[in-house]
Amino acid sequence: MAQKHKLVAGNWKLNGGLAANAALLGALEAVAGVEVAVCPPFPYLAQAASLLKGVALGAQSVSEFQSGAYTGEVSAEMLAELGCKFAIVGHSERRALFGEDEASVGRKTAAALRAGLVPIVCVGESLAEREAGQASAVIRRQLDAVRTVVGTPAFARLEIAYEPVWAIGTGRAATAAQAQEVHADIRRWLGEQGADAKAVRILYGGSVKADNAAELFGMPDVDGGLIGGAALVAQDFMAICRAAVAQGA
Ligand code: 13P
Repeated sequence: MAQKHKLVAGNWKLNGGLAANAALLGALEAVAGVEVAVCPPFPYLAQAASLLKGVALGAQSVSEFQSGAYTGEVSAEMLAELGCKFAIVGHSERRALFGEDEASVGRKTAAALRAGLVPIVCVGESLAEREAGQASAVIRRQLDAVRTVVGTPAFARLEIAYEPVWAIGTGRAATAAQAQEVHADIRRWLGEQGADAKAVRILYGGSVKADNAAELFGMPDVDGGLIGGAALVAQDFMAICRAAVAQGA
C-alpha cells in the first residue's frame, strides 16, 4: 500500500445489546495513522452512529435490492442514510449458513457501490480447499464473480478481505507468511484485470488478536484487518488498531 492508511474493521457478528454496546463504543477512539471501523448488527447502527467519534461505521451485510417486497432485507441506501461508510459483503458465514452464492455477492457489492458505500468483499478458502491446493483458484473464482457484476474499475472503490474459513473463530490464524502469499496472489489477480493493484486495500481476517496483529500487519501486502471476537473487547480492539499504526501504511 502506498498512500492509504491501514484499515482495521470490527465485525461484531450476532453480538451486542444496548448496554454492552454503549460501554464498548464509548471506549473506542480514533487512532492517528489508521482507519478504524466497527460493524454492529443492523438494529444498533443508529446507536453506534450517535456514540462513535472518529471511528467509521459499517454494516455486516446488505441487500442486493433497493426497495420493495423483500421482507427482512436492508438496503444499501438505508445503511448510507444511517451513516455507514462500509458494508461487508460475502462473509463466509453468510455464504455457508445463509445461502449467499457468488453471483449474489457480486450483486450485493454492486448495490453497496450504487449507494456510495465502500464494500468490504470477503473471500477465502475452506480447509479442504487449502489442503487440496485450491486456495488460489477458489479465491480467484470468488473475485471473478464480483468483477463480472461490477467491472474492474469498481475495484478502486472497494476493500478486499481475505478470510480463510479455517482461521475464523478457531484461534488458528493464518501465519503471516500464509496471509502474505494469498494477499500477493490477490494483488497479482488485480493487476491481471488491469486494476491499480497497489491502490486496493487487502485486509486479513481470521483469529487476529492483539498478540499476532503486528506480525500480520507487518507483511507488505496486508493492509489491515477484519476482526471478529477481539473486536468485542475494547482494549483488545484498540491494541490491534495501534499495531496497524506501528506497521505503517
Ligand atoms: P475472528 O476474529 O473471531 O476469527 O473472526 C474473523 C471474522 O470472521 C471477521 O469477519
